[in-house]
Amino acid sequence: MSSRMPGFYSLSLEERKRVAAAALGIELAELEHCLEAGGLPIQKAEHAIENVIGTYALPFALGLNFQVNGVDRVLPMVVEEPSVVAAASNAAKLVRAGGGFHAEVDEGLMIAQVQLDGVPDVQVARARIEDAKVEIIALADSSVPNIIARGGGMRDLEIRDLGDGLLVVHLLVDTLDAMGANIVNTMAETVAPTLASLSGGRVGLRILSNLADRRLVRVRGRVPTSVLAVGEQSGEEVRDAIVRASRFAETDPYRAVTHNKGIMNGVDAVILATGNDFRAVEAGAHGYAARSGKYSPLCTFRVAEDGALEGRLEMPMALGVVGGMIRVHEGAQLALKIARVDSAKTLAMLAGAAGMASNLAALRALATLGIQRGHMALHARQVAIAAGARGHEVDRVAAAINLIGSVTLDEAKAELARIRS
Ligand code: MEV
Repeated sequence: MSSRMPGFYSLSLEERKRVAAAALGIELAELEHCLEAGGLPIQKAEHAIENVIGTYALPFALGLNFQVNGVDRVLPMVVEEPSVVAAASNAAKLVRAGGGFHAEVDEGLMIAQVQLDGVPDVQVARARIEDAKVEIIALADSSVPNIIARGGGMRDLEIRDLGDGLLVVHLLVDTLDAMGANIVNTMAETVAPTLASLSGGRVGLRILSNLADRRLVRVRGRVPTSVLAVGEQSGEEVRDAIVRASRFAETDPYRAVTHNKGIMNGVDAVILATGNDFRAVEAGAHGYAARSGKYSPLCTFRVAEDGALEGRLEMPMALGVVGGMIRVHEGAQLALKIARVDSAKTLAMLAGAAGMASNLAALRALATLGIQRGHMALHARQVAIAAGARGHEVDRVAAAINLIGSVTLDEAKAELARIRS
């Protein structure tokens, strides 16, 4: 399966679905069925949350050209913002020229926190909890037999003294292919009374931490300067401008937040498509970005030894491919099939690659022509396609309406008629 589908954007919706189904080895009827009603029929939506009065759709698109750890991947992306999918696909093509994305993930442990207040002697409490570790792990595991049967479970605990008699115990849990919020919350609630009696303190909160720094994804990507040139600017000039943009974000939190927003454009689109909890990943991402006390970029760029541009991304990515919304959302199930992922770890790597691609695309545009020109060009192409332009006509119509500065459907139709006659 190749993630390259040249000219995909210029096809009609019907053609795009047919080409995608054929390329992905998915029946067209299945693809269309899964995306009916946005993948979530009202009968299912009604029972998913409370007070439901309807459903709310967003565009479902394909991120193309991605190669991650040597394997071509088509990324399902759900996002309302124009340019995000095109930009990520373009950047993925650039990274592909440098050998594709290289990604890895941590072993993958979720953290559940148990707050213990009013602990009379923190040293004594710490020793007693450490001594009872095996029993605590067994007790926690007994509350989630399903995950234990599949090989997951609590691996360790950590004790943190936050001062003033406030002790926090972290349960470190392998939740396998689930995001794991329910699993670790259940475990925390189960062991909290035992921890309270061992410590002599009172039970406070028992809840996961979204600062999932035991579930990090790391992505590397190289882009040879031969493919980086923009307009009059050489590949080397664009590379250096991207590195300066990266340093700007490394120096200034005002810029770092926007830089990271650009990363989350790609990450969230994959997370939403696959039915995952984007608020959890957002919270974890920004917490991780601020871990040194100074808010910093999650992806940075430098010049590699051979002169190529090299990007490195590191961020928490607590995702699941089973459980939660995925169980009922047919669009999410289709998304996982499109991405060909069967593990949370692989999905985390793809989301990380989407993040780096979105960041690279934004920096390349911002550091050269600015993003508005690209936005307008893309918008003109969409209008040309809506007017009926196909194949090579799309760029000709788009260029013409862009040039006269009137990017409207009427103008595009008139231009298309002129070209065809
Ligand atoms: C817009 O959605 C994202 C950007 O602002 C990101 C950035 O500035 O790097 C273009």
